[in-house]
Amino acid sequence: MRFLSLILACAAVATRADFLYDTFPDYFQWGVATASYQIEGAWNVDGKGDSIWDTYTHAGGNVVKNETGDIACDSYNKYEDDVQLLQDLGVNFYRFSLSWARLLPTGRVDQPNQAGIDYYNSLIDALLAAGVEPMVTLYHWDLPQELDDQGGWENEDMVQIFNEYAVFAFELFGDRVKSWITFNEPYVFITMGYGQGAHAPGLQSPGEKVYTVAHVVLKAHAEAWHSYNELFRPTQDGVIGITLDSEWKEPYSDDPEDIEAAERAIQFCLGWFANPIFGSGGYPTVMKEKILEKSLEQGYEESRLPEFTEEEENRIHGTSDFFGLNHYTTSLVQNADRPSLVPSYLNDRDIITRVNSTWDRSEWIFVVPWGLRSLLNWISDSYGNPNVIITENGMSDSNATLEDAHRVNYFRLYTNNVLKAIKLDGCDVRSYTAWTLMDNFEWAFAYDVRFGLHHVDFEDPERPRTPKASAEFIRQLVADNGFPEPEAVIPEVLEPEIENGDPEIVAIPEPIRAKFRQKH
Ligand SMILES: *[C@@H]1O[C@H](CO)[C@@H](O)[C@H](O)[C@H]1NC(C)=O
Ligand SMILES: *[C@@H]1O[C@H](CO)[C@@H](O)[C@H](O)[C@H]1NC(C)=O
Ligand SMILES: *[C@@H]1O[C@H](CO)[C@@H](O)[C@H](O)[C@H]1NC(C)=O
Repeated sequence: MRFLSLILACAAVATRADFLYDTFPDYFQWGVATASYQIEGAWNVDGKGDSIWDTYTHAGGNVVKNETGDIACDSYNKYEDDVQLLQDLGVNFYRFSLSWARLLPTGRVDQPNQAGIDYYNSLIDALLAAGVEPMVTLYHWDLPQELDDQGGWENEDMVQIFNEYAVFAFELFGDRVKSWITFNEPYVFITMGYGQGAHAPGLQSPGEKVYTVAHVVLKAHAEAWHSYNELFRPTQDGVIGITLDSEWKEPYSDDPEDIEAAERAIQFCLGWFANPIFGSGGYPTVMKEKILEKSLEQGYEESRLPEFTEEEENRIHGTSDFFGLNHYTTSLVQNADRPSLVPSYLNDRDIITRVNSTWDRSEWIFVVPWGLRSLLNWISDSYGNPNVIITENGMSDSNATLEDAHRVNYFRLYTNNVLKAIKLDGCDVRSYTAWTLMDNFEWAFAYDVRFGLHHVDFEDPERPRTPKASAEFIRQLVADNGFPEPEAVIPEVLEPEIENGDPEIVAIPEPIRAKFRQKH
């Protein structure tokens, strides 16, 4: 039966462009996401310590118009409004992050900040009272400045320091928080923050530090998972995992070299972090080979990519209860030999990326809905069909309009491709999170780029939030749990006109007619 319905469904959805009318499984969950530095503001009140993003934005010259997250959406003061918006959307959960420096101003657990603890307790309690489950990210990029002063993620001690912070959070909030994410998008914060210098802390070491920092972050993630697994899961009974990000990389042509290059491009982004945790363990073979080869050419005595000991490899492997995925866009990948004396994670890949000029776009996001379905299938094939939670997906625009038709179109088509991945391909996707609840501080783009379901007026001290068309779209999508078959159009049945008939007989019901016949 299942096979037959699959065939029928496939027949109905024959091409990438076809729309699938169906609903998501009953267990499917819907949410929206934010991150502390992007929304909270209140950067220096009630005992909060500075984070690297406070330092980075205040330095000037780093982000668009030298804007900062000093006030942002003022969610530190307006969290009750946020909870109301979530309730109006009808979502099952809210993914937000903890500001480490608000809880622990020095980054260390020996000096907690009670006002920070109170803030998150109030937020969590308000969410639960509204019927919205909290999903908490421990690290969404705002490292306490004091820890950066001690070497930040280059410092091996961060493995234990992060673990202590994680344990502190589980102890405080784990009675009510049942979904934890250790790190958000390590690929982005490491390559931007330590490779290109376009994010805090603004370092430029694309060939070396990106790899050594990733090594520390993976170990820190694993220790936090083990702590939860051993010390908290038995009583708190929640789940903990990591959120990785990836574009879909489509081969530029059907030349086998381009097909291999596209696979390599995914390994250098998603596989870098996923293979140690979900795959065969350790870094992907193609990364080890390429980086060693390039390093030797560049005069290094050994690979710029560090190696895990066997013990470390085993300690990291399997440390995620789900595959958290952030996805925004797709690119085309062409094979390219990039001999280079400049060590860089970009050159190490030996690829050129392109886009298709027919793709609709906004800023850096090209709208390629089938790319998400392809990526979900790649994850399923590569890592044994893990349960995936989509922790972010969304579209930016620089328009402040409430009629965000582009975003509605994006959400409609991307979520439909999630549905296809589940129903037609058998991918185990459990939830979907729209980025983001409201316009906020978009890192280096600050307030010029808006991703919100709700518009925020950043000129108004009250920071009023107003729903866009996309908020109404998501509300309906959640209410319907997908895209139910459109109502079949029943053709209007016209009563036959009776000409010259006997109106009395036509009007007489059958039993009376029977009596009438008997009588006559
Ligand atoms: C931003 O800050 C930098 C460094 O202080 C300064 O040179 C630049 O002019 C500022 N830009 C704007 C738009 O204010
Ligand atoms: C670009 O997209 C068009 C329309 O979907 C397609 O016909 C063409 O093959 C694509 N080109 C590449 C290089 O993918
Ligand atoms: C922004 O507005 C302009 C002008 O109305 C429109 O052409 C463009 O498509 C809009 N972009 C998005 C992403 O909605």
